[in-house]
Amino acid sequence: MTTTQERSKSSSKKLGMNKVDKMTHDMSKSEFHQFFIDELKDIYWAEKHLVKALPKMKKASTSSILATAFDKHSQETMDHISRLEQVFDLLGEKASGKKCDAMEGLVSEAESILSDTDSGTMVRDAGLILAAQKVEHYEIATYGTLKAFAANMGHTEVVKLLNETLENEKATNITLTKIAEGYINQEASKE
Ligand SMILES: [Fe+2]
Repeated sequence: MTTTQERSKSSSKKLGMNKVDKMTHDMSKSEFHQFFIDELKDIYWAEKHLVKALPKMKKASTSSILATAFDKHSQETMDHISRLEQVFDLLGEKASGKKCDAMEGLVSEAESILSDTDSGTMVRDAGLILAAQKVEHYEIATYGTLKAFAANMGHTEVVKLLNETLENEKATNITLTKIAEGYINQEASKE
């Protein structure tokens, strides 16, 4: 005869939930917590990689409006790095990076755009915006998910820090859209 306990065990297993109970015992040692830390290391590496690329993107910009936007986001990216360091600190972890293949690819795509476009053109700026918006969307997806993970684990302070960066990435993306649609795309179409 099947007992209630056995029935619930087998239904959890069917739903792939057999690890859930284990997590609630000691969250800091759970696989989910470890996965969360690994993903924080990934975005930490990504931000540090990006902060080196942004000044080059600024220098390559044709229009001063885009150069200014890249300059502003360079400063903000330094804040993103320091917020992540605070997050590691709050979680009792050492701040360290783990290579992010996605950001490496996005930055090399921006470099290809530079070799595919001529300097001093608006087509170059349109291309730089394309590359930068791909980066922003990647970061928005990452911070949005990591914020949800932190909320799920009850790390209230971490949620606040990740959310500040998330909002900044969203605002940057909007600024880039406004620059492209309000000026650069139109100028690029005349070249
Ligand atoms: Fe960022």
